[in-house]
Amino acid sequence: MSLLKDQLNLEKLPKHIAIIMDGNGRWAKHRNMPRVFGHKNGVTAVREVSEASAEIGIQYLTLYAFSTENWSRPALEVNALMTLLVETVKRELKTLNDNNIRLSAIGNLSKLPSKTYDTLMEGIAATANNDRMVLNLALNYSAKEEMINATKSIAQQVSEGKLTLDSINADTIDKHLTTSGIPDPELLIRTSGEQRISNFLLWQIAYSELYFTETYWPDFNREHLYEAILDFQNRERRFGKTSEQLTIT
Ligand code: IPE
Ligand code: IPE
Ligand code: MG
Repeated sequence: MSLLKDQLNLEKLPKHIAIIMDGNGRWAKHRNMPRVFGHKNGVTAVREVSEASAEIGIQYLTLYAFSTENWSRPALEVNALMTLLVETVKRELKTLNDNNIRLSAIGNLSKLPSKTYDTLMEGIAATANNDRMVLNLALNYSAKEEMINATKSIAQQVSEGKLTLDSINADTIDKHLTTSGIPDPELLIRTSGEQRISNFLLWQIAYSELYFTETYWPDFNREHLYEAILDFQNRERRFGKTSEQLTIT
């Protein structure tokens, strides 16, 4: 039984949680093991956090799994991560379906190795009818690149006369991002003690609550997730107003 879970206010859950899963390499280093060992153990945390999120009623969970900058790592590590992704999607398909979780992905997916891309697409197709939670993987993702692409496609529509300059607003930009249709994350978690965004969802986190924990990703479990959500629930989200204004309504 989890005491933290019992303290959660299920009426005040974030709809969307985004996580920068960080610290796999350091976790492994502390054990005198290669970095890839850390990534393998990170999968356990992905499984546990996904299941726990679906169970309590989170609707969208976006996990930052590979950034466009991560291609700069040693080829051995990049290859291991891509292979791990293939193996994980294949192995977890049944669990995803058992838990009614729909797999989805954002990022420059077509530039992934073809085997990774194909397996990912198979996973997305095989879970397409699940509707309890969306597990959204950010893969070969860059927020700046996403914004450049959105800008280009908006400019294209303007040049074709399908959109007027004056009508461009925040909704227009939302619609041209790869997260279109997904509510902005109310809570952004980063593990491993680093306190930066590393080119993750920039536009979408404009008003997210940020939660940083020293825990390395492979150690992050459901209790840590509940702790983060409890912390979030004890914050006052003012959206520019005063605290007094919030209590009146
Ligand atoms: C996060 O862990 C996983 C990915 C970026 C793929 P890291 O691999 O960044 O681990 P550290 O930060 O080196 O400890
Ligand atoms: C961010 O982690 C990307 C992912 C978690 C996939 P990094 O470990 O790559 O971030 P930096 O480079 O330390 O900022
Ligand atoms: Mg890192």
